[in-house]
Amino acid sequence: MEGSSQGARILVASNRGPVSYTVAEDGTLGSRRGGGGVVSGLSAIGPDAGAVWVCAALSDGDREAVRRGVAEPGVRMIAVPPEVFHAAYNDIANSVLWFVHHLLYQTPFEPVFDEEFRDHWAAYEAYNEAFADALAQEAAEGAAVLVQDYHLALVPALLRERRPDLRIGHFSHTPWAPPDYFRLLPDDVAARLLEGVLGADRAAFLTHRWAAAFAACCADVLGAEVSADGGSVTHRGRTTRLGVHGLGADAEFLRERAQRPDVVERMAALRAEAGPGRRLIVRVDRTELSKNIVRGLYAYRRLLTEHPGWRERVVHVAFAYPSRQDLASYREYTAEVSRVAAEVNDEFGTAGWTPVILKVDDDFARSLAAYRLADVALVNPIRDGMNLVAKEVPVVSDQGVALVLSREAGAFEELGADAFTVNPYDIRATAVALNEALTLPEADRADRSKRLAAAATALPPTRWFLDQLHALDV
Ligand code: F6P
Repeated sequence: MEGSSQGARILVASNRGPVSYTVAEDGTLGSRRGGGGVVSGLSAIGPDAGAVWVCAALSDGDREAVRRGVAEPGVRMIAVPPEVFHAAYNDIANSVLWFVHHLLYQTPFEPVFDEEFRDHWAAYEAYNEAFADALAQEAAEGAAVLVQDYHLALVPALLRERRPDLRIGHFSHTPWAPPDYFRLLPDDVAARLLEGVLGADRAAFLTHRWAAAFAACCADVLGAEVSADGGSVTHRGRTTRLGVHGLGADAEFLRERAQRPDVVERMAALRAEAGPGRRLIVRVDRTELSKNIVRGLYAYRRLLTEHPGWRERVVHVAFAYPSRQDLASYREYTAEVSRVAAEVNDEFGTAGWTPVILKVDDDFARSLAAYRLADVALVNPIRDGMNLVAKEVPVVSDQGVALVLSREAGAFEELGADAFTVNPYDIRATAVALNEALTLPEADRADRSKRLAAAATALPPTRWFLDQLHALDV
């Protein structure tokens, strides 16, 4: 397939796009723009660059927009049949690939690679092919295409088959599994995923650790050759460069947004709800299995047990926003978070003190309010590509924050030196770290927090995006 001279010179491809649609009762279509690293990053090249973002229709509203031919400039939404999308997104991307990269399989009964899995895998292939077709149509000769994440791992190779003239980058926003874990995938699937990403000119990751794991999988599963410096992988005569871009917090946006009146209002409400003068241990997450919210609650319970002096003097503010509710495992985890939070409140709560304030309705202004007020931020994922909350809290914190951070979060590579580092599985050690963070002298806390904020903003999303383009010689 040839690219037209009118085609785009820069393209982005991701499952979730920058806009989503809903159909109102009267049939009118409403649109809502989303945020995130890629959205902010893309703003670096401005609307005149004529970039095109190819994304999936995720909802009925999105599919209706595609059917009516409604689209924002620079956005092309592709609507594969809903059953294909669900199998690709829910059953493969989020139930298999996400689980593998985050080491989430925990029972002797999972995973199951039966006939049903094979049907889902066929859907994942079809979904990746639909992206490759759309990108091949939209791209000008020699254009740069930045493919995002595990949903689209096959796209680089599929696109190269269709358009060998393109410069293709792939970026993984998740961790990458180590070879011994990655090999639990069926051999052909493991090989296909790696060869899919290796179809790119450059495969990039959030940390050196994830890039090294990818290279190790290529060597182990494919017998590919990894260069001595670990900077490239050669397989079947083609070399793919590896890169690391540690996406940082968007300081300018966050600081401006965190000063607005709606955030100030929510600060007052949260302070009133927690009780004046009480110390706040804050966490904000999607309710996600890898975020380890339940162990965080157990660590807090242990803090109250081991250090009764904190009772009535501290509140755990946990904002846990529902995510991927099509999946039973996520629904069950969401219920477990509420159950354990209630258990802690029942065990320790008094007439004037609620030990855990759990909120599940997504409210970005309220999250910023909690960031500003936090004495301690608890970020304890089992495993996380980066974790932007760890980077965002110090940036907007009013009086400096002490960060309790899992060593398994990508952010640890940049923030570990000034955080209280924990093994996320070790509840006892997490409780100790919470106590240390709460007792950190104010001046030390302010100093650490400043250094955290500087490290957290070292690579703003605009730079992160441009660096990836430049690495493809754009
Ligand atoms: O890489 C992980 C990621 O795709 C993030 O970019 C994003 O924050 C998160 O997962 C959201 O997942 P979903 O699109 O499934 O809600």
